[in-house]
Amino acid sequence: MSWWWKRSIDAGKNSGKKLEVNENEAIVEDYKSVALVVGVTGIVGSSLAQVLALPGTPGGPWKVYGVARRSRPVWFSKNHLEYIQCDVSNTQETISKLSPLTDITHIFYVSWIGSEDCDINATMFKNILNTVIPNAPKLQHICLQTGIKHYFGIFEEGSKVEPHDSPFTEDLPRLDVPNFYHDLEDILYEETSKNNLTWSVHRPALVFGFSPCSLMNIASTLCVYATICKYENKPLVYTGSKASWNCYSDAVDADLIAEHQIWAAVDPKAKNQVLNCNNGDVFKWKHVWKTLAEQFGLEMVGYIEGKQQVSLAELMKDKDLVWDEIVKKHNLAPTKLKDIAAFWFADIAFCSENFLSSMNKNKELGFLGFRDSIKSFNSCIDKMRAYRFIP
Ligand SMILES: NC(=O)c1ccc[n+]([C@@H]2O[C@H](COP(=O)([O-])OP(=O)(O)OC[C@H]3O[C@@H](n4cnc5c(N)ncnc54)[C@H](OP(=O)(O)O)[C@@H]3O)[C@@H](O)[C@H]2O)c1
Repeated sequence: MSWWWKRSIDAGKNSGKKLEVNENEAIVEDYKSVALVVGVTGIVGSSLAQVLALPGTPGGPWKVYGVARRSRPVWFSKNHLEYIQCDVSNTQETISKLSPLTDITHIFYVSWIGSEDCDINATMFKNILNTVIPNAPKLQHICLQTGIKHYFGIFEEGSKVEPHDSPFTEDLPRLDVPNFYHDLEDILYEETSKNNLTWSVHRPALVFGFSPCSLMNIASTLCVYATICKYENKPLVYTGSKASWNCYSDAVDADLIAEHQIWAAVDPKAKNQVLNCNNGDVFKWKHVWKTLAEQFGLEMVGYIEGKQQVSLAELMKDKDLVWDEIVKKHNLAPTKLKDIAAFWFADIAFCSENFLSSMNKNKELGFLGFRDSIKSFNSCIDKMRAYRFIP
């Protein structure tokens, strides 16, 4: 059984089991590959850091450098990661902190500045490539994570464009609207071709992950909403549109994206390819709502006929102190509401429909990894509980 297939099967088997956080992974000295994960505290970065460090991960044993601006979060395991605090939008800082890393063999770029500004996002990526490429002679491959906004345009108001018809396939042309994904791809293509490196572009669907340091984590956002409902003795009310409640949606488990990027980094068939990434199934928000209500012991109120979408961001705008009280009462790992929940992102997810992407190209090239989306959502809840981010 291949490693990818086994991980997919095991993810299903382990669903629902109580998780223990392992702080004591063994340190390996004899590394075969060296990863630089840019955005290591983020939703995919934190999964990459964990999956790369596992014994038996293809291409490994991996040494892992992880970069983010904040200081090393306490929830990061102690041993397996060389953590580098660096603002990669700052050219001088990037050069001074990353040019000494001469042993990097693979770059995993899973970052963005938190705005759709093309210039800043492009500068960050250029700073990484301009620093690492001349200093790391063993560099082979660069994974760039973008997303399915490639097919429907950016979130920013006033930048609306007619989306492509779904299911989205990788060969669909760029939409005629500014999108920092285009800038990042262009930089990638130019630098890899000039320097004889291989590349892969990963376009994930909505990501299900556990990091509390992500700018767009739908699972943590909904867990926090459910926790606040529980604290205030209120039912779990669905705030989205009728269409989003009833339509099929897709998502991708952050661990599966990590596996996808590692596959692309090591398998010749995936080199120089643009690839979608989702769990390989579909779900409806009504299914997630049911499981969320069950997990938190809440009465569930689904979409009510005739109701317009209500903004969750608006409903939750005064809950910062409530969250502080919950953290204190349950002795949770310290987080701030603005970091652990992105209610604006739930508002976008709950008005979207028909944004499915195709995994056919992946299957043709040999990537058969998958997750059950509801189990994947539940495993995020399990992980968040194991790390004490939620009660
Ligand atoms: N989240 C989703 O559901 C989703 C779905 C599809 C596509 N995508 C796309 O995936 C890409 C990555 O997003 P993500 O959601 O995976 O990221 P994320 O969870 O928001 O994490 C961003 C990471 O980048 C780091 N970072 C941000 N600015 C930095 C800087 N100036 N210097 C160093 N590190 C910096 C952050 O840490 P610090 O804040 O500590 O610096 C964090 O580790 C984006 O293009 C996004 O549009 C995301």
